[in-house]
Amino acid sequence: MTGERGPRRAGRAAAAQKPRAGPDTAAAWFAERYAAAPEGIWRAPGRVNLIGEHTDYNKGFVLPFALGAGVTVAAARRDQGLIELSSRQASGADVTVRLEALEPGSVDGWAAYPAGVAWALRSAGYPVGGASLAVDADLPLGAGLSSSAALECAIALALAGLHQLTIPRPELAAIARRGENEFVGAPTGIMDQSAALLCQAGRALLLDCRTGAASAVPLDPAAAGLALLVINTRTRHALTDGGYAGRRQECQEAARALGVSSLRDISEAGGALDELADPVLRRRARHVLTEHGRVLETAGLLRRGQLRQTGELLTASHVSLRDDFEISWPEADATVETAAQAGALGARMIGGGFGGSVIALVPADRAEPVRAAVAGIYAEHGWREPQFIDAVPSDSASRLR
Ligand code: GLA
Repeated sequence: MTGERGPRRAGRAAAAQKPRAGPDTAAAWFAERYAAAPEGIWRAPGRVNLIGEHTDYNKGFVLPFALGAGVTVAAARRDQGLIELSSRQASGADVTVRLEALEPGSVDGWAAYPAGVAWALRSAGYPVGGASLAVDADLPLGAGLSSSAALECAIALALAGLHQLTIPRPELAAIARRGENEFVGAPTGIMDQSAALLCQAGRALLLDCRTGAASAVPLDPAAAGLALLVINTRTRHALTDGGYAGRRQECQEAARALGVSSLRDISEAGGALDELADPVLRRRARHVLTEHGRVLETAGLLRRGQLRQTGELLTASHVSLRDDFEISWPEADATVETAAQAGALGARMIGGGFGGSVIALVPADRAEPVRAAVAGIYAEHGWREPQFIDAVPSDSASRLR
């Protein structure tokens, strides 16, 4: 389970006001919107990327784990080839679309993600029919915890389940990603959907984004007397706003200039970076190359039960994202620095960048002082109160009922 905590009183008050999303709240939302009972309930988790940022679309390695928090979908089949979509987090923005009429650009806003999944399933040749879908989430949106992929994957499993389609999970991840890339127009990699569909409790997922080879690596912070603290900096990020796409394009340009199809083909040792005349492209490529090394080193440490020793790699990743990839933001930099001063072993921004969350690896008995110090620095700056999540590596998406 993932426990969410704000600075104490605020956290409790929020929890009292709004129950966490789960099968009961999703079923109740379904009943309210469609005056019927759902046929089934599916859930997909958000993810934290322990390390390996902006490496997935460069065909490198990533090391995410699934959160306990996620997106729940209550669903039932319906006729006339219609998909009805309703989200408890976007009430008043219900959408009904005709399956036959779905095409990229035909749906806006939050509903583009689920509609994109239906479109991608049909484009892949799966005969998805009509459905009524009610969504509920207990994952903060736009916090770099992959709420979009959790939504897509919960919807993908629900549509496959309702229409009795058996689709291997790596293929389902690729279909959900295609919906996001082509229907929504966000040029993301494969990490988030893979994490939502392939992670296991107590494990991180080492994914080779070139071959698709995936292996589970032990990640049990509590057993090591540690905690993985996610700090939502409350600065929203969006993968559709151009910054993410710009970095992706620069990586492609760097690969082209080096005469390879992706930066995965460049090794750190060979001095290849010196061939890049453009200092910006050189910095971008240097991040990707050094990050590959850090992911593999981190996975090696985890396999040997040395989670504590990964702290420095996390901080080195942040420095690289801040200085070479240039996608960090003031709240993230202050969070990383303050967490370290208060006893964290390492910390880094996570996700696409320009907003979202930070992860800090902390000795369990330093979690409270780290939380207090970070909350204090936000108050000093007059920033919105950060939100804290004790991240526990959890299971991937499943049918709940
Ligand atoms: C977002 C994208 C992922 C990945 C990360 C950065 O989360 O969806 O595919 O590129 O950013 O590592």
